[in-house]
Amino acid sequence: MIALLKHLHMTFALLSFLGFFLRGVWMMTGSPLLRRKPVKVVPHINDTLLLVTAIALAVLIGYSPLQHGWLLTKIVALFVYIGLGVLAFRHPKRPVRIGAWLAALIVFLYIVSVAFSKDPLGFLYLIN
Ligand code: HEM
Repeated sequence: MIALLKHLHMTFALLSFLGFFLRGVWMMTGSPLLRRKPVKVVPHINDTLLLVTAIALAVLIGYSPLQHGWLLTKIVALFVYIGLGVLAFRHPKRPVRIGAWLAALIVFLYIVSVAFSKDPLGFLYLIN
């Protein structure tokens, strides 16, 4: 059960990244695809499933964010990723949208590095 949930969690994470990347490309090229209903709705469903599998995993394995700094870091960084994502598609200024999109991609990769290293620093240990 835990292995299945973990695979699902990782799959939703990958889909979230690919979808976010693609929507960013469509944003920068001014594609009308960005205004299509499924393009607006599906990411929310996927990200909800990403979070549901994340919480289910933590509960089933018995991890608490208060005992595991890397888990708390992932939760906080997920909110940062979501906030930057909102800016990336809603801010009126194009440079802000592109900057927020790039920053969100970096935050996402940071979350993945925290997930694998189980260390709040993640890839930041490289500049430590
Ligand atoms: C963008 C957000 C996220 C991404 C990209 C992500 C990515 C990953 C990846 C790649 C793994 C597999 C790590 C491994 O095999 O060692 C994983 C595992 C896990 N994630 Fe996430 N995750 C995200 C959000 C979250 C959040 C918010 C939580 C907290 C509720 C969470 C809880 C967990 C747990 C408990 C595991 C299992 C760790 C273990 O096997 O010991 N994830 N995540």
